[in-house]
Amino acid sequence: MLIKSIKEMKEIIKEEKAKGKNVGLVPTMGYLHKGHVSLIRCSKKENDITVVSIFVNPIQFGKNEDLDKYPRDINRDFYFCKEEGVDYVFYPSYKEMYPEGYSTYVEVEGLTEGLCGAFRPGHFRGVTTVVNKLFNIVNPDRAYFGKKDYQQFKVIQKMVKDLNMDVEVVGCPLIREEDGLALSSRNKYLSSEQRKSALSLSKALFHAKKLFEKGETNPEKIKKEMEKLISSYPYVKDIQYIEIIHPETLKPKEKVEKGDVIALAVYVGDTRLIDNIKL
Ligand code: PAF
Repeated sequence: MLIKSIKEMKEIIKEEKAKGKNVGLVPTMGYLHKGHVSLIRCSKKENDITVVSIFVNPIQFGKNEDLDKYPRDINRDFYFCKEEGVDYVFYPSYKEMYPEGYSTYVEVEGLTEGLCGAFRPGHFRGVTTVVNKLFNIVNPDRAYFGKKDYQQFKVIQKMVKDLNMDVEVVGCPLIREEDGLALSSRNKYLSSEQRKSALSLSKALFHAKKLFEKGETNPEKIKKEMEKLISSYPYVKDIQYIEIIHPETLKPKEKVEKGDVIALAVYVGDTRLIDNIKL
């Protein structure tokens, strides 16, 4: 069922909860792919009711980012959700979420400062604000996020802990195409030639993991090799960052250890791609 009104969504959830049902929420910006489907399947397995929200959240995009061209196809998304047995699709308008005079924001400090946060000022403030609103509207017992956005996943977990919210934040594995490309709605922007260059991200991550497994623990050496590999591909415009971080603090490591995460953001053409791997 497609729900556009906050009031209606809240009433439905109240009724479901009164019947003793627990609720899983999969927050998305639409243009669903197999990564989203895996989140939906996780939620279906663990909850009586699954809600998918579809909302391209303007306040998490910077001025020069891709808000206007972000891919949208609600009919296709709705069809996907139906196929997967989603109970409710929450699809609010901008005005419904941010009516005139809206002025409240949620901000997690610390974890949002490095990595993507350093290059996308205000991005995580937009994410935590909308996720907070979605949690208040859908009142989920569990909410599902992909670990492709590893920093986002940790930031949301921290928000829930710091604000004593009664929702379990579940992180689901990053899903790749067979050739290694991490699934993302933004892959749609890539031409077929650019897509070949986009493979450099996962290739560099796999290579780094091998180096570590062979005994390399110097982050600078690993990062240098990754940089060399990625920049050897055409269409790679800018390597924004390659960082080897602690999985909880997200702080760069001086000596690489098992369990650390390598995260990177790279522009291929005009498309900003992110990816990561856990060692
Ligand atoms: O990961 C996303 O698609 C978005 O950042 C989210 C969590 C739906 C918030 O708009």
